[in-house]
Amino acid sequence: MLRPPESFTTARLSAQRPRVEDAPAAFAAYAGDPEVTRYLAWKTHERVETLAEFLQLRAEDWAQDRPHYTWLLRLQGEEAVAGTIGCIPAGGKMMFGYVLAKKYWGRGLTGEALRYLVDWTLAQPEYFRAWAFCDVENPASARVTEKAGMTREGVLRRWHVCPNLGSDLRDCIICAKVK
Ligand SMILES: CC(C)(COP(=O)(O)OP(=O)(O)OC[C@H]1O[C@@H](n2cnc3c(N)ncnc32)[C@H](O)[C@@H]1OP(=O)(O)O)[C@@H](O)C(=O)NCCC(=O)NCCS
Repeated sequence: MLRPPESFTTARLSAQRPRVEDAPAAFAAYAGDPEVTRYLAWKTHERVETLAEFLQLRAEDWAQDRPHYTWLLRLQGEEAVAGTIGCIPAGGKMMFGYVLAKKYWGRGLTGEALRYLVDWTLAQPEYFRAWAFCDVENPASARVTEKAGMTREGVLRRWHVCPNLGSDLRDCIICAKVK
């Protein structure tokens, strides 16, 4: 499995593989914020320790060459964690997910990181589809995928659960770029 770079930069961002020591900064930036995590597939973290365990797993993914790639995002030259982006490959397809701390919203930053990874993915001979999905009530996320070159393909009805909103299966917008 061809592996994306462990770190990369874009015009404004720097992305690195996570470390357990990043847990307090990532918790403060996004993982403990109920507004930021509202539409995510995981519950808002209540304790920094659970995030540390998660980051440990993601760090091990890189160390053990498991196909689950996660980066923490920072503004170039800043220590503070701004957010995270990740992707999982399967059968020629790469699925993306991303989160940005609220204070960084509205500056086009997520699309910048996503575009880098979408372009990297589709430049590899083994990948044909870069895709993401988001809740129908989270149109800013769908817009981000468009800014990274993806196209809205439709709505997947009753596709995912947002545990912060309850246990119902919810409708999603699916977006992709293919070659
Ligand atoms: C969704 C999220 C990733 C967007 O990141 P961002 O870096 O702030 O994105 P942008 O700066 O490009 O701004 C969002 C875009 O969506 C648009 N937008 C925002 N709210 C919108 C709405 N209700 N309807 C339509 N478009 C909307 C904005 O106008 C902007 O597009 P534009 O630049 O063309 O005007 C960020 O808000 C976030 O992390 N949210 C919480 C976590 C999350 O939902 N992650 C995605 C899970 S699928």
